[in-house]
Amino acid sequence: MPRRAPLRGLGGRSGARREGAEDAPVLNIGHRGASGYAPEHTIAAYDLAKKMGADYVEQDLQLTRDGVLVSLHDETLDRTARPTAESAPGDCTGPVREKTLAQIKTCDVGSWFNEAYPQYASEEYVGLRIPTLEEVFGRYRKSVNYYIETKSPEAAPGVEEELLRLMDEYGLTRPAAEKWQVLIQSFSPASLQKIHALDPSLPLIQLYAGAETSQTIQPRLDLAATYAVGIGPSKNDVDRPLVEAAHARCLDLHPYTVNETAEMEGLINLGVDGMFTNFPDRLEAVLGKDAAAGKTGASLASRANAACRES
Ligand code: G3P
Ligand code: CA
Repeated sequence: MPRRAPLRGLGGRSGARREGAEDAPVLNIGHRGASGYAPEHTIAAYDLAKKMGADYVEQDLQLTRDGVLVSLHDETLDRTARPTAESAPGDCTGPVREKTLAQIKTCDVGSWFNEAYPQYASEEYVGLRIPTLEEVFGRYRKSVNYYIETKSPEAAPGVEEELLRLMDEYGLTRPAAEKWQVLIQSFSPASLQKIHALDPSLPLIQLYAGAETSQTIQPRLDLAATYAVGIGPSKNDVDRPLVEAAHARCLDLHPYTVNETAEMEGLINLGVDGMFTNFPDRLEAVLGKDAAAGKTGASLASRANAACRES
């Protein structure tokens, strides 16, 4: 059976990878883009993640009052949005679902980052806008892989249908099914089960909150395996029994959010199949990969997972 080359800096891996996954790469998922270096969920952060060799660029979805999917982590605007000269009072505070797209498009989502992280501040970040998912698809088309989260879907009815409609419009449905060009993630089993019912070919990832543990997640894996191809636990919940239990069910493991090199190495040695990171360049350095390998990586991962399911 072919083996992966030893990982640079790790002296090889003793991890418990899933049967048949030896040739699949450990996937590098740019968490909110390269959000350690640039304001999260902006085109600047996504461009940088792509440039740094991330296999996937993550989007968290919120739905505006007028039904537009936008890429923003929080349900409210308060943490990352600042008003501009175009904003009316209240446009850039409060829940996204109470604002129209026109309102939130007046907000600056770059300046907060410059204030919070002066070591990475850039004038180019001032005035950046919240991207719609359609703008993201329109910019990158099939040049990146997308890792999209339905965020608080119970508060955003219709988010799943709109996501699938946009994927269809941009020709991403088939590449998602065939080579994991899009992975859809959620903490909500109901949201993922809804998507699975709408299109069982789409690859889904069940997230588990940080309050869970390996012991509380393991009994739920049989259910997850009925609709998902993988799980996303908090990095602190990953141990060898969880890795083995997931792999026994052909579920890939992509923990979040892993920013330190030593943690990356530890998780790789436990046998994870990828991880979310704010610093994709650090993970690239750990993996010793070529920076342009993203599309191939996802494709290999999808094939290894399919082979596991067929065996
Ligand atoms: O989606 C994986 C990870 O991003 C979950 O945490 O809160 O950053 O969306 P959060
Ligand atoms: Ca997320």
